Amino acid sequence: MERQYTRVDNIRQYVDNMLNSLTDMDRRRAGFVHLYGVGQAGALIALHRGHDREYAELAQIAGMLHDFSAYRDGVRENHAGRSSVEAEGILTDAGYFTAEEIGLICHAIEKHSDKEQTDAEFDEILKDADEMQHWLRNPMEEYCFRKDRTQRLAREFGLL
Ligand SMILES: [Fe+2]
Repeated sequence: MERQYTRVDNIRQYVDNMLNSLTDMDRRRAGFVHLYGVGQAGALIALHRGHDREYAELAQIAGMLHDFSAYRDGVRENHAGRSSVEAEGILTDAGYFTAEEIGLICHAIEKHSDKEQTDAEFDEILKDADEMQHWLRNPMEEYCFRKDRTQRLAREFGLL
């Protein structure tokens, strides 16, 4: 079967174009690793929690876009809110997401820095994916491993 061109491929073009325009090579590399990593972790977590592949695709896309403005601008302050606005523009521009899907993704991006609080199910998938990528980048790093959210995830996936 021929490989399909999917919505994820299209969104990757926006992400790749932004990252490839960065002159800071460390930031560019970190952006590729983190945004692609959180996208994949999001899809894995969504599927693991019993959601269908379409929902996992949305989790993948949320992960790809969640820190878009932070990498583009090199500024962490309010990057969740700014990335959410950016994602809304990208998803609308892409042209094949429903208003409900755009709302789901943008809300999760807006909330993703609030790791101490529990939000809706899709929001929590993105937060967990963010933490999972940070942890798996270096499984030996105690700072990430000891976080409550990471401990919960490790238990959920039978990794303790
Ligand atoms: Fe992140």
